[in-house]
Amino acid sequence: MDDLAYRSIAAYEQAKDQASAQPEAFWEAIANQFEWHQKWDKTLEYDFHKPEVKWFFGGKLNITENCLDRHLKTQPNQTAIIFEPNDPKETAQHISYEELHSRVCRVANMLKAHGAKKGDRICLYMPMVPELAISVLACARIGAIHSVVFAGFSAAALAARINDADCAMLVTADGGFRGAKVTPLKAIADEALTHCTSIKTSIVLKRTGQEVAWNDIDVWWHEALAEVDDHCPAEIMDSEDPLFILYTSGSTGKPKGMVHTCGGYMVYTAYSFQNVFQYEKGDVYWCTADIGWITGHSYIVYGPLAVGATTVMFEGVPSYPECDRFWEVCAKHKVNQFYTAPTAIRALQKHPVDLVSKHDLSTLKVLGSVGEPINAEAWHWYDNHVGKNNCPIVDTWWQTETGGILISSLAGVTPQKPTYATLPMPGVQAVLLDNEGNELADENEGILAIKYPWPSIARTIWGDHERYKNVYFSAYPGYYFPGDGALRDAKGNYRITGRVDDVVIVSGHNLGTAPIENALNEHPNVVESAVVGFPHDVKGNALYAFVIAKNVVADHEALIAALRALVAQTIGPIAKPDRIQVVSGLPKTRSGKIMRRILRKLAAGEYDQLGDVSTLLNPEVVEEIKRNS
Ligand code: WT7
Repeated sequence: MDDLAYRSIAAYEQAKDQASAQPEAFWEAIANQFEWHQKWDKTLEYDFHKPEVKWFFGGKLNITENCLDRHLKTQPNQTAIIFEPNDPKETAQHISYEELHSRVCRVANMLKAHGAKKGDRICLYMPMVPELAISVLACARIGAIHSVVFAGFSAAALAARINDADCAMLVTADGGFRGAKVTPLKAIADEALTHCTSIKTSIVLKRTGQEVAWNDIDVWWHEALAEVDDHCPAEIMDSEDPLFILYTSGSTGKPKGMVHTCGGYMVYTAYSFQNVFQYEKGDVYWCTADIGWITGHSYIVYGPLAVGATTVMFEGVPSYPECDRFWEVCAKHKVNQFYTAPTAIRALQKHPVDLVSKHDLSTLKVLGSVGEPINAEAWHWYDNHVGKNNCPIVDTWWQTETGGILISSLAGVTPQKPTYATLPMPGVQAVLLDNEGNELADENEGILAIKYPWPSIARTIWGDHERYKNVYFSAYPGYYFPGDGALRDAKGNYRITGRVDDVVIVSGHNLGTAPIENALNEHPNVVESAVVGFPHDVKGNALYAFVIAKNVVADHEALIAALRALVAQTIGPIAKPDRIQVVSGLPKTRSGKIMRRILRKLAAGEYDQLGDVSTLLNPEVVEEIKRNS
């Protein structure tokens, strides 16, 4: 395969021009770099009103042949996966492409031996060990649809996902290590399965060695694996056959099972990976996400492996055994591209900088950010202390639904701008809309929308195409609506301002909570904040701000007065929060996103309507907020 990346601004400009003039020819040329059993009949068929999107329709392929077999010809001994265990005393593993291929084929045969076949849904509820990536690829090898459920989710959340997709098989582990904690995955899965009837076999990997209960449907991974060989021809898939389902939360309680398909997802993740990170052969790339999230699917497993990269998989957490683990691992494996989330940066930023400076980070070339807007303070800390002002930072905007990065700079090729995701990737047609759905020109602020399909757009919500239509294609007919607001500067750079559903009307004024948070965050003693609306007799709604302070607050009244003044000064007196509460943490999802729904209930004093808080990263802060409100 040719290098998919544009390595110069001239090459980038040319690609961008071609992509807008002849989008189909543009994507065809990229798709042609991959191995297909049969070329497609039709490059693109779409109708955003229906909605329906098909890419490379009629093409036949298997994504694992592109991620594995293809590289055996050119680089069998190249390391595909570096596994860094939770415990730094446990030896890291280096898995070559040849070994990975063999292990994937073997696990694929194991799944088949236990009845799995093309089109079946297989739920993976596993820790961040190589066997998780191998299971993902093994499903893809045989055409089974994987549904990875993050190993931090509760039994109820797991059961809901298994039932929604009607999964026939579960792959789990006895337990998982994460920092100082051991999660009893098998016990949680057992509890989940008391609410599920579709699972016929549960394969259990031994990771922690802890005691587990045993049921009729349970099979030990190592015993099942011993029964099969590693010869497994790939199932030939249609481009538009589902590759996986991945759940993401919606504005209502039920999670949405986003469906991604084989051909377009492969093309787009490889293309975006190589361009955004400017990965070069032999580089060591590390994305700190969990494979339980889309970031792990696209940028730990599929994107990197599709281009023959070396990808690091980390089992642990940034604070274990000490708060320098990220930097220690970067130095240990001589990481060249490092991709993490602003929430991790902000947490690490609170610690003394010598935790960073004592490690040799000289191999780093590119830093990445994903998951939420990165505030200026975190951006500069990352740039100064991790990148030593010598590594471009790619702020990558995308979603579970988009499958891959849609807006980002290309490291070192296109200009970066702190707190801006910058420009849409070539081939991505982003626009700003006003509330009526009119496109806004030039420098402006509005609702972000995409007006043309890209190959890795989710094709539907599993079992609920109507909801897919309602959530993403109905608010602004003819456009894909991601639910984010953005502003655009004179050069076309986008800054994501936050969810557009986080707007509060105060005394008839339309206030975005994101700019108010940005104002609060400017205060030297504020680390992070979240603003929500709550009902108010006179104003309709008033604002409630939850703020995390950097240092101990000696005088609460003084801090609150200063914060109100700061907001008044930055946005206007109308935006001053009625209530400001200093908290030690904000309720967050496991991926680090603030659960505003819960904050809204807390602000309104509706404690009996908080819903299930067990899937939160930090359920204890909910109690603290109630106590101190
Ligand atoms: C939402 C999608 C993309 C994988 C991880 C999250 C927010 C994501 C950025 C960014 C500002 C961002 C958006 C988006 N978001 N990246 N670089 N700057 N906001 O996936 O859980 O599907 O969440 O995360 O609000 O809509 P997700």
